[in-house]
Amino acid sequence: MSTPISHFERMYADNPDPWSFESRWYDARKHALTVDALPNRRYRSAFEPGCSTGMLTARLAARCDRLLAVDAVESAVRTTVERLAAQSHVTVRTARMPHDWPDESFDLVVLSELGYYFDDADLAALLDRAATSLAPGGDLVAVHWRWPVAEHVRVGDDVHAALARVPGLHRLARHEEADFLLEVFTRDPASVAERSGLR
Ligand SMILES: C[S@@+](CC[C@H](N)C(=O)[O-])C[C@H]1O[C@@H](n2cnc3c(N)ncnc32)[C@H](O)[C@@H]1O
Repeated sequence: MSTPISHFERMYADNPDPWSFESRWYDARKHALTVDALPNRRYRSAFEPGCSTGMLTARLAARCDRLLAVDAVESAVRTTVERLAAQSHVTVRTARMPHDWPDESFDLVVLSELGYYFDDADLAALLDRAATSLAPGGDLVAVHWRWPVAEHVRVGDDVHAALARVPGLHRLARHEEADFLLEVFTRDPASVAERSGLR
């Protein structure tokens, strides 16, 4: 069974920033690495499911012409709406993955600390929706904690192994640490140098 939304609702009821994203250096550094790993300077339309309180959303907003960020928990969405209030190109709303995946095409999808909450069927649906909503040449960035956690259905490495099996996605970059994996998958197998006309 996927981690129930009631689990996250309880976490946010106890603490509006349950993972301390606003203060923890570990996450600030990881969010910076995530945005620095984006192969393109700018994206036309990006999607970030599971945005929590919007700390990564704020960094992504600087690289996108249009950004849709969603979370299943209303209070987290409210915090993100307040954080991004001045950025009219960012839309934030409540949605449950994978079933509420938007019927749109994106040239960037960001799966950051989300995939390990899903059981096999939901993870398969999530990755299928992510891959099919990627525009030609689009990029998918995935970042996941590697250690076992009680409320995680699987470890982060298993999410990345599942991503590597998605037809039509190529791995462009991989950053591996003891604590997390950061990978960029893409529909366009050209390297960043090739995209930039360097080779
Ligand atoms: C660990 S936080 C990740 C925050 C952010 N992506 C980051 O990396 O900084 C996980 C978030 O996913 C949300 N979430 C969990 N299951 C979800 C689902 N099925 N649909 C949408 N959001 C979900 C939780 O409410 C929580 O805010």
